[in-house]
Amino acid sequence: MRKILVAGNWKMNGSNAMARELAGAVASGFKPGSSVEMAVFPPFPYINIVAGAAADTELMFGAQDLNENPAGAHTGEVNAAMLVDLRCQMVLVGHSERRAMYADTDQRVADKFAAALAVGLVPVLCVGESLEEREAGETEAVIARQLDAVLEKSGIAGFANAVLAYEPVWAIGTGKTASPDQAQEIHAFIRDKLTALDGIIAGQLRILYGGSVKGSNAAELFAQTDIDGGLIGGASLTAEDFLSIYNAVA
Ligand code: PGA
Repeated sequence: MRKILVAGNWKMNGSNAMARELAGAVASGFKPGSSVEMAVFPPFPYINIVAGAAADTELMFGAQDLNENPAGAHTGEVNAAMLVDLRCQMVLVGHSERRAMYADTDQRVADKFAAALAVGLVPVLCVGESLEEREAGETEAVIARQLDAVLEKSGIAGFANAVLAYEPVWAIGTGKTASPDQAQEIHAFIRDKLTALDGIIAGQLRILYGGSVKGSNAAELFAQTDIDGGLIGGASLTAEDFLSIYNAVA
């Protein structure tokens, strides 16, 4: 059975109280017997609080980024082993905001992806094109390039323990969602590209859609053949909005 993952990226938002309340409310929203999973990605300082709220519940959690190096002289950075220490199961890698604002090149993203896998964390690899790239007809080439860097480093086998997220940059935080057909087209492109390398891994890989997902459009998006859930930004910041997405599909 296809498992849907509803993942919440809190971005640089939150407080101790908000993290405790939001994670607790999300964790208590699970419907018994549903095949839909939920995960949240708080800022680093709140991971421990979320871990406490998620203990003994089905809620999964992770960080929004990691450093690709082992321990050492990298002031201000957080490595993969530290996230395991905090009981994270997952970590976002290559979110478009990190690619655009914090020098996450394709190579660095590939290194982060490998660093996560090396400690047993599930990397959630984000890919997607900008508006200019889409208008220039470069969408597939951009996504292929982003995937190839990771494939070169970790191989198709790396995708056996990963999640992918297609997030068109023009749809993130803009209220402009890709249409279900537009999203499905790119998800199918990604799955086909990986199927050429390993049909089983590609068939089992979860490919999330991200970009202005909300309760009112989630069901139609997640009903597409190759869309296996969502990476939710703005609508993950209140339990009501986040659970409305979960409830639309659970
Ligand atoms: P959004 O963000 O849902 O606010 O568009 C998605 C994301 O950046 O992961």
